[in-house]
Amino acid sequence: MEKFYTTTAIDYVNGAPHIGHAYEKILTDVLFRHFSKRADCAYMLTGTDEHGIKIQKTSASMNINPKEFCDMNAQKFIDSWKLLDINYSQFIRTTDEKHKKIVQKIFKKLLDKGDIYKHSYTGLYCSGCEAFLSEKDLDENGFCPVHKKKPEVVSEENYFFKLTKYKEAIIKHIKQNPDFIVPSFRANEVLNQLENIEDISVSRAKTNVSWGIDVLDDPTQVIYVWIDALSNYITAIGYDPDGSSDLFKKLWSADVQVIGKDILKFHSIYWIAILMALDLPLPKHILAHGWITIDEAKMSKSLGNVISPKSIMEAFNMTEPDALRYYMATAAPCGKDGNYSDNDFKEKVNAHLANSMGNLLNRTLSMLVKYFDGEIKQEFIKKSPLFDEALKTIKEVEHHFDYFEVAEAAQKITELVDKVNKYVTDAAPWSLAKEGKMIECGEVLYTVLELMCVISSLIYPYCPNIAGKMAKQLKYDINTKYDDIKLDNIKIGKLISKEEITPVFLRLDSELADKANKVK
Ligand code: MSP
Repeated sequence: MEKFYTTTAIDYVNGAPHIGHAYEKILTDVLFRHFSKRADCAYMLTGTDEHGIKIQKTSASMNINPKEFCDMNAQKFIDSWKLLDINYSQFIRTTDEKHKKIVQKIFKKLLDKGDIYKHSYTGLYCSGCEAFLSEKDLDENGFCPVHKKKPEVVSEENYFFKLTKYKEAIIKHIKQNPDFIVPSFRANEVLNQLENIEDISVSRAKTNVSWGIDVLDDPTQVIYVWIDALSNYITAIGYDPDGSSDLFKKLWSADVQVIGKDILKFHSIYWIAILMALDLPLPKHILAHGWITIDEAKMSKSLGNVISPKSIMEAFNMTEPDALRYYMATAAPCGKDGNYSDNDFKEKVNAHLANSMGNLLNRTLSMLVKYFDGEIKQEFIKKSPLFDEALKTIKEVEHHFDYFEVAEAAQKITELVDKVNKYVTDAAPWSLAKEGKMIECGEVLYTVLELMCVISSLIYPYCPNIAGKMAKQLKYDINTKYDDIKLDNIKIGKLISKEEITPVFLRLDSELADKANKVK
């Protein structure tokens, strides 16, 4: 695989990051780290969406200049992703000068082409969606079904994008590429939405919305959020209608664009039409993930159950994010909703990461020290049938990742860990040692350690710190590409001393879990 380019949605900065935002960034980072082990070049983009009426109103109500407000809140997202070890290649902010300039050029290109035109319009505007809604979009009370608010009636002269011109081409693309929208069950939903599409407003009168990118040569209008926001995926990596960068030529089109199911319409219809209008190749896949609920309830400010990733880490006294990353990445099957609960979090990570995986390595290394002074002897090196199991698991994990099934892939890793644990229980190296069968005992330990190298590689995208600690004790190169894993990593000679053995993951404290302080 030559390259892998993945993107996340860019978050609105009118609020603080919560674990719904975090879920998406973790999922994408896991994909990114996995494909880094398969592609020559992998690139991940994330960022913040900073224009629009909501930011304008919130910053005004706080008496702060909107840019200062954005700076302050964008930093909260940057800090949270650092805390979660999101290893993105680039963080774009839509207030970046470079982005703004290219968005203006994109707008002009579409205007010159005749795909954008000016039109007087009266519509129902939902500031929550930052979108005009049609009557059909509203619920039985005439409210926006997502934001539960009555949209405002807005009359303006705006620029419109000829979405309808691309309707048939988009339908054809979705039908001809059943794996374009992931999971595929969402494709029908999009095809239904396509039936009713109209041209969309892509600018707002400056008198109503001033916090946005000016339309070139028309100071009365600002470019309305979606053309601005969606373009980030190409402006960040150097798209320019007058000549794009080498990075853009190398990376575009995206291999997978990760977004929440609530904004699938914007990505699988609006974004695709914009790309078609710009004569650019389309992303290979759009992955629409589900929603994260808290204790089975929707997260919302009014319910007071919005949890930040930082508050979870503080409540559990966590110094590394691996457990939370693992829990979130495995919270739901691909595309389905998932749930966060303190108790489930604690139980799952203690069972999987501490009891099964961490203990397995710890016990094995301790036995190696106890019986052989930490040394691997020539006679221990023997191919085990479990090696084939490990190679099979690598293929299965890769296969799931090819379909962006991050939770399903983790299940395969868990199954391999369970098999190795069963192997140790059945082979009982402690009994072999007692019986003086030292070579057999050494063979078992060697087999487990070789398997642990594979497990550390496979768990790395989810738990980079734990995997790093495993690899360090195994003297294994955690950067090994999956294709290069040969199960010949454990070398003859001294592997480890007693002092070097460290637990890779400490169980989460149950008392802390019970007291978990949900900081809003
Ligand atoms: N700014 C737009 C996206 C523009 S992309 C060109 C936006 N921002 S958002 O802050 O509202 O949401 C950012 C992402 O977080 C979206 O993909 C959204 O689906 C996701 N999530 C927000 N709340 C969520 C949950 N409770 N659970 C999972 N993801 C959720 O939309």
